[in-house]
Order: sequence, then structure tokens, then C-alpha cells
Amino acid sequence: MQINAARVNERLAYLTRFGTTPDGGVTRYAFTPAEQAATNTVAGWMAEAGLEVRRDAVGNLFGRLPGRRPGPAVLTGSHLDSVPNGGHYDGPAGVLAALEAVQSMKEQGIVPEYPIEVGSFIGEEGSRFPHGLLGTSFLTGTFPCDEIDHIADRDGVTIAAALRAHGYDPARAAEAAVAPGTYKAYVELHIEQSGMLEARGLPAGIVSGIAGMRQARGVIRGRAEHAGACPMDLRRDPMPAVAEVILEVERAARELSPATRATVGFVQASPGAANVIPAAVELSFDIRDLDGDRRDACVERIRTFFDEVSRRRGLTGEFEVQHTSIPIRCDAHIVQTMHEAAAAINLEPFELPSGAVHDGANVSLICPVGMIFVRSRDGLSHCPQEYTSPEDIAAGTSLLAETLLRLAK
Ligand code: GLV
Ligand code: MN
Ligand code: MN
Repeated sequence: MQINAARVNERLAYLTRFGTTPDGGVTRYAFTPAEQAATNTVAGWMAEAGLEVRRDAVGNLFGRLPGRRPGPAVLTGSHLDSVPNGGHYDGPAGVLAALEAVQSMKEQGIVPEYPIEVGSFIGEEGSRFPHGLLGTSFLTGTFPCDEIDHIADRDGVTIAAALRAHGYDPARAAEAAVAPGTYKAYVELHIEQSGMLEARGLPAGIVSGIAGMRQARGVIRGRAEHAGACPMDLRRDPMPAVAEVILEVERAARELSPATRATVGFVQASPGAANVIPAAVELSFDIRDLDGDRRDACVERIRTFFDEVSRRRGLTGEFEVQHTSIPIRCDAHIVQTMHEAAAAINLEPFELPSGAVHDGANVSLICPVGMIFVRSRDGLSHCPQEYTSPEDIAAGTSLLAETLLRLAK
């Protein structure tokens, strides 16, 4: 089927104005003016397209194209939030490709057998609240609602407070969970964020599975003292301990397997001054693997080392897992459907795994999941240089539209 390639790319370009950074990237956290403006804009486009538009109890946005039958619906979409100083394609590409596919169907008078819903899910990145895949955690009923008053951003604003500030009642957040059988499939288009498609010269590919992630927060506490007056052998300085831990994080992932990834992306000393030995250093851990057991082994190795180095240096350490997502294999029937869809548009059906995490990991708990990747230039993502060409966006959108048509039959 035809899609409007110019329209999806123009919309993608339009959204770049919400949260633009000085170096051309984007910072668009959940429940901030930039993210709300982007979401409202997309809601407007959904309404213009003639979809039934609604928000759920936590602000996930949906636009529905009714089918001949009431349900179950095929769900497709992605997110509009970003990492700090990230790129303009991670998330919006999937939301807008989904909208384009569905709007084109409507314009061409195609009525699917089952409804197709376009979703834009809140807080996928976990950049503001230390709980990524936030919107789909509520959607799938897996968010720990007793934590809603405790999980907070770096300014101490809790998820409950953010919801309240945007007109949502946190006491009703659990109502965002959908009933079993609501969806028959979930398909997300996303940028690849790696270089396999580029290496093969392909605009788009079929995702075979999504890595599982575990994120933790560590704090090592020592004693603040004068950087010049305190002799080296009398210090209780947490910073060298953190340095040891960071090297172990790199070693652990390298030694476990090529599919293991471990990253320390955030380090903060307090009080944080050149002439003060830190009283404490906080750091983040992000550990992933396509194999959940191997990921967990990596986490345990790092945790053990973290405790050992803290003890050996006379410091105290706290290591707390904050968020976990499950590794999944994409659904065999959806993958097969994507092969047929690829054949229909003369695209080589190339399968590849996702090292990044996506909402599909959560959604797999309520329905079968598949994903389409579009080529990322130089494999770059989570940075301002992130780029996917208009031609590749169009090819991926066509593959998505063909897939949705077949799944909604
Ligand atoms: C999301 O982009 C993630 O994989 O962290
Ligand atoms: Mn991302
Ligand atoms: Mn993303």
C-alpha cells in the first residue's frame, strides 16, 4: 500500500522544535513542557487523521482506527521522550510511522478487520524517573503502584506528583492497565541505533529479539576532608573505589560475552569540589544482555566486587537495583508476517537483534510483539548526531503499514 513519505518526514522534522538543545539534539523528559507540547501536537495530528483519540489514566496517548470487528486491536507506536541531549529519531520515528500507516489506510478507504491503535507511551527512556518503559509498565499492569509516591526524579519530584501536576490522579494510575485480550499484537518501528543495517546496505530490517536490562544505583560513602591537608594514607576517599568499580564493570561485560553490555553513565561526587575529598560518590549501572541469566550473572559479579572494594577500603557501599526489563524473542508469527510484508515491497528480509531496550519487552507480557528497525547513520544514537534518512523512514513506514494490514486481517 501507498504511504505519504513526505508527510511522515515533515512531521518528524516539525517535532524537533520541542526540546531542542544548543548542539542540535533534544532533551525531552516525561511530563515536561517540551514532551507535553510534542504529545499534544501528535494528538492533534491523530484527530486530523480522523482517529479516535484518548489518553489513559497516566497520559499514554492513543489514536484508534476502528475495524470491522470491535477487537482485539493491533497496537503500534513508540515514545516521544528522550535521553538528555539525545537524537530526534529515537521514539518519534515509531510514533509517526505508525500514525502515517494508519492515516494512509484511512485515506485509501482501507477498513481493517480488527482495529489498529497508534500509541505514544510516556517515559520510555527512564531519563527523568529511574524506571524506564514507564507508560507500558502501567499499560501492562506491572508498575509497582505502591512505589508511585517514592520513585522520584533528581529534584525529588515523585511520579505521583508529576501525574497530579498534569491533571492525572495517581490513585487511579492502575486503571491504565488493559484487560487481557485487549491487543492481538504489538508492532513498533524504531531506529536501529547500531550499524548492522548500514553494513548490509539495507534501509530496514526485522528484529529477532530485545535484550534485557537491569539498572542499578550505587553509592560509596567515605569521609569528606581537606584535599591538601589530609595525608594519602589517612583518607577514606570513595572516588578511587569508584574508579576500581568502573574498571570491573568494563571487564565483566568484556569477559562474559560479545552480547553483554555494561555501562556507568552517571557519576556524581558530593560535595563535588576540587579541594574536598568526596564524602560520597553516586554512580549508575546499566547492564544488558540478550540472555537474561548471563545479564544477571554480570550484575552479581559487579555487585560482589562493589561490596568487596568498599569493605577493603574501609568505606560503606549501597547497591540498589532500580529497574529491570525482560529479554524477549520476537513473536514467530509476526516475524513471518514481516517477511511477507518485506516481499511485498521488494525489501530483503534481514533479521537482527536489538541491544537497546524497547516498550515491546513489557508489551510482550500481554500480547505477541514484533519490531522493525530502520537504518541509523554510522550506527549512532542517544546523541545529537543520531540520523535516519527520509528514504529509510519511508521504507520502514511502508514495511510497517504492510505488516499492520496483514496482522489486522
Ligand atoms: C532505551 O533507549 C534504552 O535502551 O535504554
Ligand atoms: Mn532511547
Ligand atoms: Mn526508543
